[in-house]
Amino acid sequence: MVVPGPDEVSRSFAKSLADSIKGSLCEPAYKQFPDGEQYMRLTCDVKGADVIYVKTMLPSQDSSLVLSALAADSARSSGAERVTLVAPYMAYARQDRQFLPGEPVSIRSVLRALWAAGFSHMATVEMHKPDSLRQFPGASVNVRPYVFMAEVLGIRSSNYVVLSPDLGALERAKMLAEHLKVPYDYIEKERDRITGQVTMKVKQLDVSGRDVIIVDDIISTGGTVSKAAEILRDQGARSVTVIVAHAVLAPGAEERLRSAGINNVFAANTTPAQGSFVRQVDVAPLVARELAGIMGVSNNEQ
Ligand code: R5P
Repeated sequence: MVVPGPDEVSRSFAKSLADSIKGSLCEPAYKQFPDGEQYMRLTCDVKGADVIYVKTMLPSQDSSLVLSALAADSARSSGAERVTLVAPYMAYARQDRQFLPGEPVSIRSVLRALWAAGFSHMATVEMHKPDSLRQFPGASVNVRPYVFMAEVLGIRSSNYVVLSPDLGALERAKMLAEHLKVPYDYIEKERDRITGQVTMKVKQLDVSGRDVIIVDDIISTGGTVSKAAEILRDQGARSVTVIVAHAVLAPGAEERLRSAGINNVFAANTTPAQGSFVRQVDVAPLVARELAGIMGVSNNEQ
């Protein structure tokens, strides 16, 4: 039984997920108390059921986490057999280590809290560092959407090259390039030790006359992919397409993307759709498929 969070993204994701697994959809009752605290109540009989709560965690990260904990508790208290969280976008994933003394490892803290609240399984779409999911004590899966998105979009051409905007994201580019059977590379940033000037260039490949796909996990300000697109255009790329898991789009991001010479931006449907430039692809069927792989299996040893 699939139970959606109250926001539009979670509701449409949950509906698509329920269709994919041929499960039922149960809309809870939600309300907010006058002091701002949240309330939810399951309106279906979940006794003995496999409950999947779908809640994307952006915007309103904190309230999404609290609602998810309430949902897990209500499902457990009502006798659900198993309670799974599907978080299309997972909050707090970027603070995945102590950058400065005294900081928390935020993602560890929230994943453990969700498990303690009653979730035994969870799936998310492309966490900033997929390894962070190991902090969730139950069974979990990080769903990488790029190949699925390219299939849905019908992307196939031998003229493509796939690039990541930095070395850290190279694995994402490699995955898509191997599927498309085209070359891949990354954009290297170099700082001149004397002048301090930063230059960016594609490490090895010649992109002149090629159609380039940039793959990244997230667009926030749009600075990373816009800068990359400008460099690729300067180096003669024929077209630039961007495929990301999450389009968060801070104010000004869409304008930045439009003026960087990017032809298309495709994002998974994990965050609210904004503007007309970014086209969303429904990845719930892929999450349904990968969820099936962890049901009954605990892949973390903690
Ligand atoms: C960086 O590690 C990430 O993979 C993204 O490249 C980055 O967070 C994108 O942010 P922005 O759109 O603000 O450049």
